[in-house]
Amino acid sequence: MAQQSIPRVTLRSGNAKDMPVLGLGTSADPFPTAEVVVKAVLEAIELGYRMFDTATLYQTEKGLGEAISQALSLGLIKSRDEVFITSKLWCTDNHGDCVIPALQKTLKNMKLKYLDQYLVHFPVSMKPGSIPYPANPKDVVPMDIKSVWAAMEECQTLGLTKSIGVSNFSCKKLANILAFAEIPPVINQVEMNPAWQQGKLREFCQANNIKVAAYSPLGAAGAYWGTKEVLQSEVLMEIAKSKGKSVAQVALRWAYEQGVVIVMKSFNKDRLKQNLEIFGWELSDEESKKIAAIPQSRAYLGTMFISETGPIKSIDELWDGEL
Ligand code: A2P
Repeated sequence: MAQQSIPRVTLRSGNAKDMPVLGLGTSADPFPTAEVVVKAVLEAIELGYRMFDTATLYQTEKGLGEAISQALSLGLIKSRDEVFITSKLWCTDNHGDCVIPALQKTLKNMKLKYLDQYLVHFPVSMKPGSIPYPANPKDVVPMDIKSVWAAMEECQTLGLTKSIGVSNFSCKKLANILAFAEIPPVINQVEMNPAWQQGKLREFCQANNIKVAAYSPLGAAGAYWGTKEVLQSEVLMEIAKSKGKSVAQVALRWAYEQGVVIVMKSFNKDRLKQNLEIFGWELSDEESKKIAAIPQSRAYLGTMFISETGPIKSIDELWDGEL
């Protein structure tokens, strides 16, 4: 099968290999079985995808790891180095002494020696222990980001991951890390799509050499908190129709043209193929202007972390006003 070649970007970390700009996310609602993940990842690898994203929260580490093993046995890839793998530290392990054991458990789950990227999933700490989802706001405790980040740095120094970064961090919280980090975060993975364009955060990240990765580039339509404002956007539908593309392709192309890395989710082979076909054509200035004018709203609010008696008292506080 002819494989689509995906452009790559260089991350600031000297250790990290170049990252494909488009990859497959494995977060699904409800959590998918390992079989579903293995099938989708193998199909994606056959099509040419080389970047895969998971998290301890998603319960897809084992399935993704199994798919990589099978891809090697089947000869779809020749070496583990050919794929770029990200996972994320869950909030219950957002404590200095829990970070390295959490990553070691992730590597065991995935049967991997190293990750390409390990991210702090949220700027929120919760009582250590099991992972109820949705989380109970009563379990949220104050976060000591300095000790968490020092442990993340140690993960990279030990070779357990090639690069480290964060997810769901505001400009203010990134600036705080940058003030003390010895190894700055290479990436901030955040919700980003035509209905939540993240202009301010992208400017901050660009100025500070932090790559932005877009999760929910299609609005996470399948998730309970997702939005229809992307796949059912009249502006995008009109552009898609005039270009002979799908709305998903227009949304993904838009994200690519903003210079971000894209973490898209589909477990359907036809849509995986369709979503790869976003290179070799472009949006006109007029189309980009129309997309820039789409009304903005954040879909994922993180209400499960908020309580009047806890350390994060409002949605506004979680996102530092970036709403
Ligand atoms: P499916 O897995 O059945 O393909 P996001 O990437 O923003 O998280 O969005 C994921 C959702 O979008 C999933 O429900 C996925 O469904 C759906 N999706 C992915 N690609 C397409 C596409 N090309 N057209 C329509 N829906 C899509």
